Amino acid sequence: MIRIAPSLLSADFAFLKNEIDLMQDSGADWLHYDVMDGQFVPNLSFGPKILSDIKRYAYIPIDVHLMVNEPYHLLRPFAEAGADYITIHVEACEDPGRYFQEIKNLGLKCGISLRPGTSLTSIEPWLDQVDLILVMSVEPGYGGQAFMPEALERIRTLYQMREDQKLSYFIEVDGGINLSTAPLVTQAGADILVAGSALFGKENPGQIMEDMRR
Ligand code: DX5
Ligand code: ZN
Repeated sequence: MIRIAPSLLSADFAFLKNEIDLMQDSGADWLHYDVMDGQFVPNLSFGPKILSDIKRYAYIPIDVHLMVNEPYHLLRPFAEAGADYITIHVEACEDPGRYFQEIKNLGLKCGISLRPGTSLTSIEPWLDQVDLILVMSVEPGYGGQAFMPEALERIRTLYQMREDQKLSYFIEVDGGINLSTAPLVTQAGADILVAGSALFGKENPGQIMEDMRR
């Protein structure tokens, strides 16, 4: 089953509730929540307060993607705000194992992500500890960038490793996912597709999600 996670970064924040209602009513599986610190990535986005406000009406799982250097102190605030998944970047954390332990202690699912230029071997020690691997198919920081086809090989490798080692992580892909790239990543083995600019501001996001799942 392919899941679609609209990336709220591409929403019109002046109408955030309407945007989220529309995505949920259109059949979104998860909501993807991009947190940026202006250091690990140049851009800034939002923190736990907006998440806890959103949780008053969001009824699908929230997938928090932390593009933040050493965000250990933010794990509990995001858990309390209502996150279901918290994903950290391998490049941003000195000791990822400590993060996964704390995320699990807080009762949530944990994920690991890596930039397009970071070697897959950097996340190999954590494959049996995570619930999700987030493959970046653009340089993190902004919505609306073009898909980097190098991600396909990574998705295939992670799919094969999951088979070979009998593991159970989800493979999520983030960046440049639209109706042309969705079939490529699903064929490569992705389970969860993050999509921002391909869904928000579009006439019929429900139809686009349905077409992406096919
Ligand atoms: C980029 C973010 C993505 C972004 C995706 O750093 O992690 O989630 O919002 O946007 P699109 O789908 O427009 O590439
Ligand atoms: Zn993201």
